[in-house]
Amino acid sequence: MLSEKLTQKLNEQVVKEFYSAYLYLSIEAYLASLNLPGFANWFHVQAQEERDHAMLIFNYIVKVGGKISLGAIDAPPSDFPSIGEALKLTYAHEVDVTRSIYSILDVALEEKDHKTAAFLQWFVNEQTEEEENADNNVKRFNLVGSDGRGILMLDAEMAARVYVPVITVQNQVPAV
Ligand code: FEO
Repeated sequence: MLSEKLTQKLNEQVVKEFYSAYLYLSIEAYLASLNLPGFANWFHVQAQEERDHAMLIFNYIVKVGGKISLGAIDAPPSDFPSIGEALKLTYAHEVDVTRSIYSILDVALEEKDHKTAAFLQWFVNEQTEEEENADNNVKRFNLVGSDGRGILMLDAEMAARVYVPVITVQNQVPAV
């Protein structure tokens, strides 16, 4: 049984994860428009992961008998001042998402809802990785600066990222 407060916060997090997917699709399109298919691929994969995150939470609410009540997903920005700024925005966004996950976990712990706290632990670990990856992108991009060859080298590396679904179909829990 989910409390009303946790139900609301988890539903809001579903929307936030879908917003993340929207944001990353928008950044993907921007990078593709700059002829950087590797960067665009990285964000395409990231958007797929965000949809998985949303569905994990959605599935959890359903599984524990909570009420699904989906809100509107805001439109993401469609213009970005530069590649560097788009990468910085990604990092800042992930820090916000971490904050949001922590605030749900705080409520679960206050309410002694250990089942939900255990479920959220996967997201805590995932956010450590998400922040690290986004921060790496910013730092590596800063290293190459405006050097075209460096950017193309990074682009080739980012092209190698492959989507791995985080949901196992059978039990709808994260595959960790
Ligand atoms: Fe769903 Fe990027 O955190």
